[in-house]
Amino acid sequence: MKLYLASGNAHKAQEFQSLADASGLPLQVFSARAAGGMPPVVEDTGSFEGNARKKALALRQRLPADGWALADDSGLCVDALDGAPGVESAYYAGAAGDSVANLAKLVATMRDIPAARRAAHFRCVLLLVGPDGEAHTFDGRCNGRLLESPRGGHGFGYDPLFAPDGYAESFAELGESVKNRLSHRGRAWAALVAWARTRMSAGA
Ligand code: IMP
Repeated sequence: MKLYLASGNAHKAQEFQSLADASGLPLQVFSARAAGGMPPVVEDTGSFEGNARKKALALRQRLPADGWALADDSGLCVDALDGAPGVESAYYAGAAGDSVANLAKLVATMRDIPAARRAAHFRCVLLLVGPDGEAHTFDGRCNGRLLESPRGGHGFGYDPLFAPDGYAESFAELGESVKNRLSHRGRAWAALVAWARTRMSAGA
């Protein structure tokens, strides 16, 4: 099965290829560049699924007959902020998409919020659109809470401030292999792999 990633980020295609390799399934991951580039998409639907669907449909139009478009959309949702930054996670501190500024803004916004009200979760939606328009959504969620201040040097984005349920450490302290097992992206990907395995074993 050929998956083309609906993102301008070539690094993401490599990440998904290594997840695909680990699955043991014959999944090939290509970047959008292999299909002439990612068409411009305004991510304005207000939902992870809506944005992912828009990106997947836009790329699907450019793909060869047997190509599947794979889009992902993710973010951090904080209960005390009514779900913010949510779909705006990448641009929380402004249009420049500066992840250091985003993290600093969240630390400052949450400064006076006590431990009992610091629940948060990461979400990731993966959306596949196939050759005949068939679409499948895979939703991954990781519950946890925000720490008082950033800790740890692994990962990216909001990882230093987020401790998943069951752990005292942040994602940035826990490191990649623990994070991949627990994370929203790891869980959404596991659901996609389970679907692909069933489909392939049915000979589709
Ligand atoms: P996107 O889905 O690549 O557009 O990511 C949206 C934004 O959500 C990122 O820029 C990060 O700010 C945040 N985010 C998504 N997943 C993670 C994660 O696993 N760790 C930390 N931040 C994340």
